[in-house]
Amino acid sequence: MKNAICEQLGIEYPIFAFTHCRDVVVEVSKAGGLGMLGAVGFTVEQLIEELNWIDEHIGDKPYGVDIVIPQKYEGMGEMDAGKLLEQLESMIPAEHRVFAEKLLSDHGVPGIEDDGTIEGGLAGWTEATARPLLEASLGRPNMRMIANALGTPPVDIIEEIHASGRLVGALCGKVKQALAHKKAGVDIIIAQGYEGGGHTGEVGSIVLWPQIIEAVAPTPVLAAGGIGNGKQMAAAMAMGAAGVWTGSLWLAVEEAAAEPAQKESYFTATSEDTVRSRSYTGKPCRMLRNEWTQAWEAEGNPKPLGMPLQGMVTFDAIKRTHRYAGVGETQQVAFNPIGQVVGQIDRVQSCREVMRGLLTEYVEAIDRLNASLPDV
Ligand SMILES: Cc1cc2nc3c(=O)[nH]c(=O)nc-3n(C[C@H](O)[C@H](O)[C@H](O)COP(=O)(O)O)c2cc1C
Repeated sequence: MKNAICEQLGIEYPIFAFTHCRDVVVEVSKAGGLGMLGAVGFTVEQLIEELNWIDEHIGDKPYGVDIVIPQKYEGMGEMDAGKLLEQLESMIPAEHRVFAEKLLSDHGVPGIEDDGTIEGGLAGWTEATARPLLEASLGRPNMRMIANALGTPPVDIIEEIHASGRLVGALCGKVKQALAHKKAGVDIIIAQGYEGGGHTGEVGSIVLWPQIIEAVAPTPVLAAGGIGNGKQMAAAMAMGAAGVWTGSLWLAVEEAAAEPAQKESYFTATSEDTVRSRSYTGKPCRMLRNEWTQAWEAEGNPKPLGMPLQGMVTFDAIKRTHRYAGVGETQQVAFNPIGQVVGQIDRVQSCREVMRGLLTEYVEAIDRLNASLPDV
């Protein structure tokens, strides 16, 4: 496809795939899109291992890394991750941990030994934990883009990424945020609508995308939230999007590492079965509705804490419900973030098949529109 973004990144199609699985990153990039590895849940050692594997398997194709680079706040720059963890842990009421544990044990979710993953559940949501992830990613020749999940990245970090010759993308769900991204020097703005999986805002994609595209022009905008097939991609491109940024589509592919029971819960869900819930991360995040999401809303129960505290309470639950997805009633309390396009996902496909489907349907949609025009 002829597109400035494709040329800048050296990709064939402006299809971006957010994923936590290295195999998906490699397969999407090999199929002509851009695999974006979500790094927030990795320790720096784990991320280095994943990136080494990607570098060994991706050939000459480009890829990107998605991290969370928060704006700095008072004192944060100087505080190391250990001290920060101690301070944050003291802010978590004991009843939250007890409540989370009871939900898991009531549903027969087995426990796991400490497996050396992120200490205390303080994922890369903070400056102290995100910076090493960024440093592990820069300097790899095929790593061409860093995306920031929540908020505008600090200007000095944008400059550092630019100085290394990479592009910076940032997600947003409001025009105001998009304008702040542009002002800070973000190269590619990712406009994610309400229906998207993961952390998401309140404005639906079909209303959000054209507003952001117009507000930040000529900065390129990727349309995110609700892209599940090539017809939806055509709609986004028709509105002026420079490409599409997808997440849900890759959760149940052949190459995704999830347990079969987790993938199955996606195949059986309809678009009405998701909810924006603060119960896992502390910020509104779209996921499958289940007894866990309902319990944290019910009267008399503890209410979700803010980010990153709620994530520290639930980090163990995320690992346990993913590892033991098929055990007992785990799916009733599992963390299954996914967007409303879940209703369109009904079988295992390979990344290549998903890419081919997107492109074929995209071309068909354009042909249909062209055929509807009068002959001139
Ligand atoms: C399981 C899951 C986890 C996600 N985690 C992140 C994340 O860590 N960083 C980020 O920028 N976006 C994250 N997102 C959002 C995606 O990047 C993407 O914007 C979103 O999935 C697009 O909407 P869609 O799900 O309808 O395709 C996540 C999405 C899902 C489904």
